[in-house]
Parts: sequence; C-alpha cells; structure tokens
Amino acid sequence: MITQKLQISSDEYAKTVERAAEILKKGGIVAIPTETVYGLAASALDSKAINNVFKAKGRPQDNPLIVHISNTEMLKQLVTDIPKQAQALAQKFWPGPLTLVLNSSKKVAKEVSAGLDTLAVRMPNHKTALDIIEKSGLPLAAPSANTSGKPSPTSPFYVENDLDGKIDAIVYDGECCVGVESTVVSFCTNPPRLLRPGAVTAEQLREIIPDIIVDKAVLQEPKSDERVESPGMKYKHYAPKTESYLVEGDSSFFAEFVNKQENAAALIFEEEKDLITIPKLVYGRSEDESTLAKEVFSCLRKVDDLEAEKVYIHAPSKNGVGLAVYNRLIRASAFRVIKL
Ligand code: TXA
Ligand code: MG
Repeated sequence: MITQKLQISSDEYAKTVERAAEILKKGGIVAIPTETVYGLAASALDSKAINNVFKAKGRPQDNPLIVHISNTEMLKQLVTDIPKQAQALAQKFWPGPLTLVLNSSKKVAKEVSAGLDTLAVRMPNHKTALDIIEKSGLPLAAPSANTSGKPSPTSPFYVENDLDGKIDAIVYDGECCVGVESTVVSFCTNPPRLLRPGAVTAEQLREIIPDIIVDKAVLQEPKSDERVESPGMKYKHYAPKTESYLVEGDSSFFAEFVNKQENAAALIFEEEKDLITIPKLVYGRSEDESTLAKEVFSCLRKVDDLEAEKVYIHAPSKNGVGLAVYNRLIRASAFRVIKL
C-alpha cells in the first residue's frame, strides 16, 4: 500500500483536512496529530476499518480503542448515561488529554471496545484533529499510531518509521505538545478509577472526585492471570531494544552508580549533564515534569542508537504529570526498578 503524505500548511489547510476526512469516510485509516501523541484514526462505525487499525499496529484484539469526538453532542450518542462527576470532568478538561470510560450505547462497531460493554471517549485539544473529526462527521477510533509495543509517536516521522506502507495516509503537523497519552478514568466502577495517568493529573482529578481510586496497575506489574480494568495495562509497552532499568535516588547517588557501569548508557535530567560520564540522553528538567513528558517517548526511541547493553533511566517524581512519565518508564523497563 502507498501511504499518502498529507502536509498541514497554512495555505492548504482546509484542503488537507478535507482530504484526510474523505479517506476516513471511505473506510481508510489515517494517522492524525493530537496534543498527546499521534493517533491512527478510523471510523468507529466501520468494523472493517477498525480491523485494519488492529492489523496495521499488530495490536492484540482484546485491547479496546479510544473514540475521539469534536463536540459533546457526539458523546450523548455513544454512551447510555453520563454521571455528574464525568460531566464535571468533561466540562473542566475537554477539549484535552482526558479519556472517560462510560457505558456504551453500542452504536460503534463492536471491535472498537473489544467486546466490552464500556466505551472510552475523548475530545482532543488539537485544532487539526477536531477539524478532521468535524469534517468527516464521524466518531474516530484512534489508538496511538505506533507499532504495538513500541513507544507512542510524538512526531509524524515516528509514525512513518513504524507504519509507512501499512496505512492510507499520515497527516504531518509537527510535534505533539504533551508527549504522553491521555489520562483514562473509568466511571464503570464505583468509586471511579484512574486507569492510566496522563497530563490531567491525579491531584486535579481528586478536586472533582475526592474518592477516586488509582488502579494498582498504574504502578505495579499485573499478575499474568489477573483481570485488569484496562486491558492495555497488561501488555509489554514502550520498550527500547536495550535492556532498561528505572533507577530511583538523588542526583549524586545516581551519578555515582551509573558512572561505574560498563557498556551502559543513561537517560538523565538536564541538570545532571555535567555529572554523568557515560553516553547519555537528556529527557527534561526534574523540577518540571511536563518537560519530561514531552521528550520521554522520543528518548526511548533514540536510546538504541547509543548501542549500549543496558540503559539506566533516572526515575521522575510521581507528582503531577510525573506519575504518567513514571508509569510509562516502569513498563519500558519491564518493572525492573533499582532503589539507591
Ligand atoms: O492520548 C491518547 O489517549 C492517544 C491519542 C491518540 O488520543 N490514544 C491512545 O490510545 O493512547 P491507545 O489505544 O494507545 O490507548 C488506549 C488505552 C488502552 O490502555 C486501553 O486498554 C484503554 O485505553 N481503553 C480503551 N477502551 C477501554 C475501555 N472500554 N475500558 C477500559 N480501558 C479502555
Ligand atoms: Mg498505545
């Protein structure tokens, strides 16, 4: 298959959006930008298109997709009821990096929610994404636009690396500003449950849902026979080829530890640059977790180029969006944590 390259530019904007929408209406699959990561979009009403999304990504069939909408009218069609606290979250954080899991009205193709009675929905905070949804007139199912298991793509060039020749088109619209996937909150459990942390933080959620539960799979490895609320959490994720370890401890301990490792590389904070003597990549400033979120997936893709046997990743704090970064890194490290 030849993948069309659709470049967003100011003079051809409307035409490009229309082109992407046309392909989607015809049952095609198109990588689109969002504020979090690029998504691989398809009509949520079209079983065949959804199956093609699973195939292109190599995604396990039992891992459901998020449906993207451009207005709240669409939400009402897709779910049977919207609890008050879910409404409050949508009002406060949409459009934005927040996904709500609600009871499905079963309007979308059953493959979207992998046979579950629930549906994950979000309204992205990205003009191009919203315009493509609006123009197509369709709810768009879109998982992250990477090969399953690889880091999520924060640039269209990472999408191209993974999926060129396997999908109908890629919309090129620069880098994603958030860098980690949306926060996922389920209202199908009582009390509501944080299934995946993201840029809408646990602290912000607690202001509206004081008794929200942070699912234990956010920070722990699910046992192989355990039922998990969010199927995505049981899969190996985001891992570079280099064997990686998540290291907790302050900068001086971290530097002392990594500097004596052989054939090793490190993923570090900017302020540690002068302390670390082995090959390294900087992923942001420890004090500003949003800088870590923006670069973490890109660094996980680049780390194999350092050709080390092992990579030691300095763990971020679990505060704010740091929890989301920690959640991705502990998976990338297959739950190997070193505490100094
Ligand atoms: O920011 C994002 O959410 C990006 C962009 C493209 O919007 N999308 C994304 O999709 O990260 P994906 O497929 O990579 O992750 C979807 C997550 C998975 O962990 C999946 O298990 C969970 O959402 N999920 C989807 N439907 C669910 C449901 N009905 N119940 C529980 N978890 C669900
Ligand atoms: Mg994904």
